[in-house]
Amino acid sequence: MTKTYHVKSFGCQMNVYDGERMAELMEAQGMTASDKADADLVILNTCHIRERAAEKVYSEIGRLRREDGSKPMIAVAGCVAQAEGAEIAKRAPSVDVVVGPQAYHRLPELLREAQGGAKALDTDMPAISKFGALPKRGTQPRPTAFLTVQEGCDKFCTYCVVPYTRGAEISRPWGALIDEAKALVDGGAKEITLLGQNVNAWEAEDDKGRQQGLDGLIRALADIPGLARIRYTTSHPNDMSEGLIAAHGEVPELMPFLHLPVQSGSDRILKAMNRSHTSASYLKLLDRVRAVRPDIALSGDFIVGFPGETEEDFEATLELVRATRYAQAFSFKYSPRPGTPAADMDDQIAPEVMDERLQRLQAQLNQDQQAFNAASVGRRCEILLERKGRHPGQLIGKSPWLQSVVVSHPDAAIGDLMTVDLKEAGPNSLAGEAVMREAA
Ligand code: SAH
Ligand code: SF4
Ligand code: F3S
Repeated sequence: MTKTYHVKSFGCQMNVYDGERMAELMEAQGMTASDKADADLVILNTCHIRERAAEKVYSEIGRLRREDGSKPMIAVAGCVAQAEGAEIAKRAPSVDVVVGPQAYHRLPELLREAQGGAKALDTDMPAISKFGALPKRGTQPRPTAFLTVQEGCDKFCTYCVVPYTRGAEISRPWGALIDEAKALVDGGAKEITLLGQNVNAWEAEDDKGRQQGLDGLIRALADIPGLARIRYTTSHPNDMSEGLIAAHGEVPELMPFLHLPVQSGSDRILKAMNRSHTSASYLKLLDRVRAVRPDIALSGDFIVGFPGETEEDFEATLELVRATRYAQAFSFKYSPRPGTPAADMDDQIAPEVMDERLQRLQAQLNQDQQAFNAASVGRRCEILLERKGRHPGQLIGKSPWLQSVVVSHPDAAIGDLMTVDLKEAGPNSLAGEAVMREAA
């Protein structure tokens, strides 16, 4: 039986969360974590969202062969496994197990099957959720934790593979989420980020049988003693309810940060993307959030070079960006994904055009991020210390607005909430000066 394991995650935060749950599952089998170079079992937890994702996986598989010609047991998990499971099994003979994102609770069984010599494949999307079959959350102390509350997507944006790799929208039940959050807090978490492909579409009955949306869940989590901060990602503009907007003005534990992808500023392109919002409805929504939480930091996702995107369409995106002044953002070149409607659309955009537009967009976004950071200088805020900095004695924490803040203080420790004055702003981080320590 294999004794040590290594999980490598390639994708979004939910992919990272799945990786953690797989690691806990392996621990529950009596295995221990180790480096990739000498683990008995390597789990490649893959992502399919853009090109080269699958290529990266194949090259990673190739590199797992060791100098003496041996290889670890290899399991390919995640969204590439879901989308191309059968092909991986064929193309990469050294892979022992292929398991999709909705089936990884079955990993121990699949590994046993594979030990018998046969390749084991499971990309089912069972009606019963994997969550009930996973071991309880581990108690590895960490100050920030992810918690998947919602999974899957029914939106079918025409460029996107997620509805196919993650399946239909499901909301995890109230009680399971409260319990998991409490376990994470008991394990040392002070901040929890609620995850979902459309996290703000989450809905379920609470313990008293009342229908709740994400804002209700956030309010209940805010009551857990010791949980200081709550974040959520990723939201869809169409699911930003009245209640959730209001929560931004009323729940102190809910951090003033909103990642709200818009993808494009051109209504023509938004329509072709099947986004079902317009650039004006998006901007209006941001105004409503800013009205209740004026200091909210906004973040977005953008795609340039969607099929048919003209210079004028792209200019509309730049205009929306300039109007919004994002604190940070992610921007991508459109990547045709097999099986999605946009991949078959006419008028695919030339790579040079995409490159040039991406550069212009990123120049604007970087400038806005710098400006946001510069405007934070002089603010006093709490940061949650998460990791060591580059230099001895330095620690890095996150501000409420999700900026990285570097501090040096003799008593500071990872996991502390520390009040700092924000002093100097760089492009990717700020320098902070400790004001006082959290009472122990
Ligand atoms: N559920 C989230 C995010 C899903 S994927 C949402 O709806 O916003 C994260 C981001 O990847 C998307 O917001 C989009 O900007 C980008 N993306 C998705 N598919 C893509 C594709 N085919 N090409 C380029 N970028 C893509
Ligand atoms: Fe993909 Fe659109 Fe669903 Fe987001 S909302 S996961 S971009 S289909
Ligand atoms: Fe990638 Fe799957 Fe997440 S495709 S972005 S790992 S949902």
